[in-house]
Amino acid sequence: MLKPPIARMGGKSRLRKQIISMIPEHTCYIEPFFGAGWVFFGKEPSKVEVINDVDRELINLFKMIKHHPGEIERLMQFEISSRDSFAEYKKMEINALTDIQRAVRFIFLISQSFASKGISFGYGTNTRPSPQIFDTSNLKNLKERLRNTYIENLSFEEIFARYDRPYSFYFCDPPYYETDGYKDKFDYEDHMMLRDILLNVHGQFLLTINDHPEVRKWYKDFYMIETKVPYSIGKEQESRKKYNELIITNYEVNTDSLKIV
Ligand SMILES: C[S@@+](CC[C@H](N)C(=O)[O-])C[C@H]1O[C@@H](n2cnc3c(N)ncnc32)[C@H](O)[C@@H]1O
Repeated sequence: MLKPPIARMGGKSRLRKQIISMIPEHTCYIEPFFGAGWVFFGKEPSKVEVINDVDRELINLFKMIKHHPGEIERLMQFEISSRDSFAEYKKMEINALTDIQRAVRFIFLISQSFASKGISFGYGTNTRPSPQIFDTSNLKNLKERLRNTYIENLSFEEIFARYDRPYSFYFCDPPYYETDGYKDKFDYEDHMMLRDILLNVHGQFLLTINDHPEVRKWYKDFYMIETKVPYSIGKEQESRKKYNELIITNYEVNTDSLKIV
């Protein structure tokens, strides 16, 4: 199992083994909401794979890892975890950078920020600087993993419109309902659009989402599994909390390790 190059709010690091064990047979594997891609990097490659996220900088990072891991590695050897570098990277004009420079900037800002949000410099008295900018040994493995993958930078509905077949499988991990935090807003209308698409989809899907009474109503006609996940990114106190998450599928899953609703 590979480790993604960055962390992402809502990343599925703790749940990925369970999710992978629940994936049915398929030909085309699709992640419309890729984020850091914990499930993708943890599973065996499928015949055809598609990863997508609406965040342009995030997708540029994976494209650059696919095509130029050596150059990213070379540039990252000059990085140090400093507040000044963080401020400089933050105020840089993105369009004046090359795609490779943008990828390095993104890894720096995400890995050296509080809660991986890229907003404020992250530091600690009992944790070292996050190692992603110093340890680039994983990049070549990630590149190999991305070799035969279609990388898209669209809003999710366009992915369903292009790739939906009876042999498609979607792992859908959208932003949580009523929770902010990503650059791109995902509101009630987006959740309704996703629900309507999933109601009519030709392929199979597994959706992870926060356990909320509204969400339960929207997906009442599907299979639903309730699970508790320790929060992976957050303030120290918050990180000890657990939250409820729903795993929703349009196919029957046989699992003993999770509590069936
Ligand atoms: C919960 S995260 C995915 C986490 C991922 N499964 C992981 O393991 O790291 C949700 C992702 O959806 C993306 N997103 C938000 N709105 C979107 C949209 N309309 N279409 C596609 N992706 C979107 C965000 O940029 C974010 O990366």
